[in-house]
Amino acid sequence: MKTGFFITLEGFEGSGKTTLARKLHHLFLKNGLNAMLTKEPGGTQAGDKIRKILLERGNEGLGYKAELLLFTASRAENVRINIKPALEKGIIVICDRYFDSTTAYQGFGRGIDMGIIDYLNGLAVEGVIPDLTLFLDVDPDIGLKRATILSNNTELRFEDEFMQKKEVDGKLFLERVRDGYHQIARQNPERIKVIDANRDIPLILKDIVSIINTQLSQKFKKEITLEL
Ligand SMILES: Nc1ncnc2c1ncn2[C@@H]1O[C@H](COP(=O)(O)OP(=O)(O)O)[C@@H](O)[C@H]1O
Ligand SMILES: [Mg+2]
Repeated sequence: MKTGFFITLEGFEGSGKTTLARKLHHLFLKNGLNAMLTKEPGGTQAGDKIRKILLERGNEGLGYKAELLLFTASRAENVRINIKPALEKGIIVICDRYFDSTTAYQGFGRGIDMGIIDYLNGLAVEGVIPDLTLFLDVDPDIGLKRATILSNNTELRFEDEFMQKKEVDGKLFLERVRDGYHQIARQNPERIKVIDANRDIPLILKDIVSIINTQLSQKFKKEITLEL
């Protein structure tokens, strides 16, 4: 049974997921709370190899079905090896992307049947649903600029596709993913909090910490105030 607290970060490239996940992890540790940081794809031996196939340049022609199955395989390993055991020990787990990414990118973005997406997400996560999902909502132009020009990121396969202005069923891939995320957020208002990620990092972090303080206090039935 899950007794820890599970937080996932979602959003477009350059929305600040990795930066904020690291800051949150440090903040939990600084405040004496046991927390673990992991990411998708990756986080396990097999998952880190899968991450390279999925995100690095050089696999431009990868088929959508293979892509979906590789993300699913990486997630299944990360849940089985890291996330589920940590939550069972009462640890706070932060995951940089999780199953909403598959719904947004492979489902809404690529146009793969949602029944298949939901089935594979369910297969991978074994009922481990996030307590809180922070959807970092960034203007795609700002996000792409941050993820490409402003960072020394080499994991640019998806960025390349967005920049090529690729269309799926007559609509830009980029717009399908963005609209998909908004639809997922509307369908899960209890779990998913939408954060304006166009702002400076300290302001975003302050909002996130306030949400987490409220939710952790409710979950552990005692006042929790993280000092920034
Ligand atoms: N709110 C922000 N304002 C300005 N720059 C940001 C912000 N969030 C992230 N960045 C910068 O943009 C780049 C991409 O951020 P990152 O956290 O890797 O995004 P993601 O993991 O969502 O793709 C990094 O260089 C990071 O320092
Ligand atoms: Mg990242």
